[in-house]
Amino acid sequence: MAILAPTDPASPYHPENIRAGHNLPEDTLVHFPSDWLNALPLDALFERNAPVHLELGAGDGSFLLQYAQAHPEWNFLGVERLLGRLKKIDRKGRSAGLRNLRAMRVEAAYLVRHLIPVSSLDAVHIYFPDPWPKKKHHKNRLVQADFMKTLHRSLTPGGCLHMRTDNVPYFNHMLEVMEASEGFTPVEVPAELKSFTTDFERHWNSLGIPTNYTSWQKV
Ligand SMILES: C[S@@+](CC[C@H](N)C(=O)[O-])C[C@H]1O[C@@H](n2cnc3c(N)ncnc32)[C@H](O)[C@@H]1O
Repeated sequence: MAILAPTDPASPYHPENIRAGHNLPEDTLVHFPSDWLNALPLDALFERNAPVHLELGAGDGSFLLQYAQAHPEWNFLGVERLLGRLKKIDRKGRSAGLRNLRAMRVEAAYLVRHLIPVSSLDAVHIYFPDPWPKKKHHKNRLVQADFMKTLHRSLTPGGCLHMRTDNVPYFNHMLEVMEASEGFTPVEVPAELKSFTTDFERHWNSLGIPTNYTSWQKV
């Protein structure tokens, strides 16, 4: 049996066939690449050239939708592995008429390592990543020294990484990793960013658990 390239309309991996298989509408904001091995053409993805902000583990898009609405001059890409949450981002983004927002179903580290072009991101947002509290599971955490090297490469000079978590041990781990990462300097967390809360943040704050913030700039 012949193996069809994902660019072939008959291939089950053609973006249009994946979209239909996921019951997403034709005007979906969810993007399925036809090439999973080379860098994404970001200008083509957004149909324009503008600074790009990436959110990893975007959940239901509560942060991204507010931020994209406040900054129509920037492009926003949200990455989420759960289809149900991606569908929420898609539905809310389309009903808000957001033209500067795209979402992708892909593993966050894979995306940054293989699909994000070098020096292409003005900012990366990582909010309330899964904390993996058990020591034997720490290796599953998104924030790792190696991953920060990859993120550094994907940021533009002067680009920023913003992180938040309710989990104090994970927050301390984030600080340790960042302090040991070359090419980053700590910066003040922009007040505007803090005004856009996430779904998980609201949940933890409602239980009296505060948000820990940290922001770093590529130097
Ligand atoms: C604790 S939730 C936080 C969601 C959102 N950032 C918020 O603050 O409301 C973590 C999210 O990251 C997603 N996630 C976890 N690991 C991921 C990975 N490796 N790649 C993509 N998404 C991931 C999960 O599906 C989940 O929606």
